[in-house]
Amino acid sequence: MTKGKFIALEGGEGAGKSTQARLVAEALRARGLEVVITREPGGTQGAEAIRNLVLHAEGEGWGPRAEALLFAAARSDHVEKLIRPAIERGSWVICDRYLDSSRAYQGGGGGLSDADIRTLHAIGSEGLLPDLTLLFEVSPEISATRLARRDVDGTDRIGGREAAYHTRVADAFSRFADAEPARFARIDGNGTPEETSALAMAALEQLLSA
Ligand code: TYD
Repeated sequence: MTKGKFIALEGGEGAGKSTQARLVAEALRARGLEVVITREPGGTQGAEAIRNLVLHAEGEGWGPRAEALLFAAARSDHVEKLIRPAIERGSWVICDRYLDSSRAYQGGGGGLSDADIRTLHAIGSEGLLPDLTLLFEVSPEISATRLARRDVDGTDRIGGREAAYHTRVADAFSRFADAEPARFARIDGNGTPEETSALAMAALEQLLSA
C-alpha cells in the first residue's frame, strides 16, 4: 500500500491555520483521498491532557524548558498513536502546528537552542518530519483583528504573552523557511479563506502528483 503524506500547518497566532486545515482537508477529500485532521498540542487523549496542562496551567505556569519537554512528550504520543499509523495506512495527515512551533515558540520565543529542541524531537518522535510544512504569513494588523474577534473570552497562557515574544516567534518562522526552502511553502494568509486555501492547494500540487 502506498504511504500517505504528512502536512503541517504553521504560523503565528491568528494566521488562519485552523480554517485552512479544514478547507485543505475538504479539497483533498474531494480528490478522493483519505484525510485525518489533527492539531498540536493534542490529537490523542494523552496529548490533549498535556495541552490542558500547558495552555491552561493554574498558578505560575511553566518555564521554557519544562514547556519544551511537555510539548515534546505530547508530540511523542501523537506521532506514535495517531500520525504514524495514519500515514502507514495511506492517509494524508493535516496537522495544525508541529515541531516548527516548538522551534519558534520555545526556541525563538523562549530562548532554548534549536539543537536542544531537535534533540527532544529525536528522542520523543524519532525525528519524524512532515513531507511539507505550509507557513501561513499574515500582517500584524490582520492577525490582531482576527485575534480580537476570536479571543473575546481571553486567550491562553502562550497566546497572551507580550508582543515582543510573538515578534520573535514570527521572525523565527521566517528564518526557518528561508533556511530550508524545500521543506517549507510560504503562503500569503492575508486574503480571504478561499484565496488562501487556493494558494495552499497550489503548494501541495507537487506532492499530489508524486
Ligand atoms: P491554539 O489554541 O491551538 O493556538 P493557535 O490557534 O494559535 O494554533 O494553542 C496552541 C498554542 O501553543 C499556541 O500559542 C502555540 C503554542 N505552541 C507552542 O508554544 N509550542 C508548540 O510546540 C506547539 C505545538 C504550540
